[in-house]
Amino acid sequence: MSNADIASFSYTKPIRVLFVCLGNICRSPLAEIIVHGQAEKKGLSSQFTFASAGTGDWHVGGLADVRSAQTAAQHGLDLSQHRAQQITANKVNDWDWFVAMDDDNRMNLLAMGVPENRLLMMRQFETDSSISLDVPDPYYGGAEGFEAAYRMLCDNADHILDYLVKQSR
Ligand code: 4NP
Repeated sequence: MSNADIASFSYTKPIRVLFVCLGNICRSPLAEIIVHGQAEKKGLSSQFTFASAGTGDWHVGGLADVRSAQTAAQHGLDLSQHRAQQITANKVNDWDWFVAMDDDNRMNLLAMGVPENRLLMMRQFETDSSISLDVPDPYYGGAEGFEAAYRMLCDNADHILDYLVKQSR
């Protein structure tokens, strides 16, 4: 995105963006904090409201997974304030955009009434069409899966932000 793009970008209400995974303790809290950080770096954070949620309810009210929090901390990001929440059909209209971490999340969001034209995949702007668009769930694996998720999320944060800015003009 050029400086001219940023300067011409005006939107009276913040664009409300919800990052979604299954439990809201591993991937989507990291996605939220990474994209938020990128928006701050670009001077765009006042144009957005970012949050994250899970399609499941098991961890509602709980902290981010300790491995996600550690991965975030290793990269200078603080997940200590995160509390897990669930996205349900009655909250769909609280958000302008949904960004799903994997295809199961996407299917669950569609089933609860999220319109397809407000639903993105976190990796959908990667150019290699032969790869899976999923951010793999690191919950049942080791610390390396969390670092891999972190890298994937960083690689895609700018693409997601650029797309949302363009769509909102
Ligand atoms: P997340 O990972 O969807 O990236 O937060 C998971 C967290 C918890 C569970 C599964 C995935 N769980 O089954 O409790």
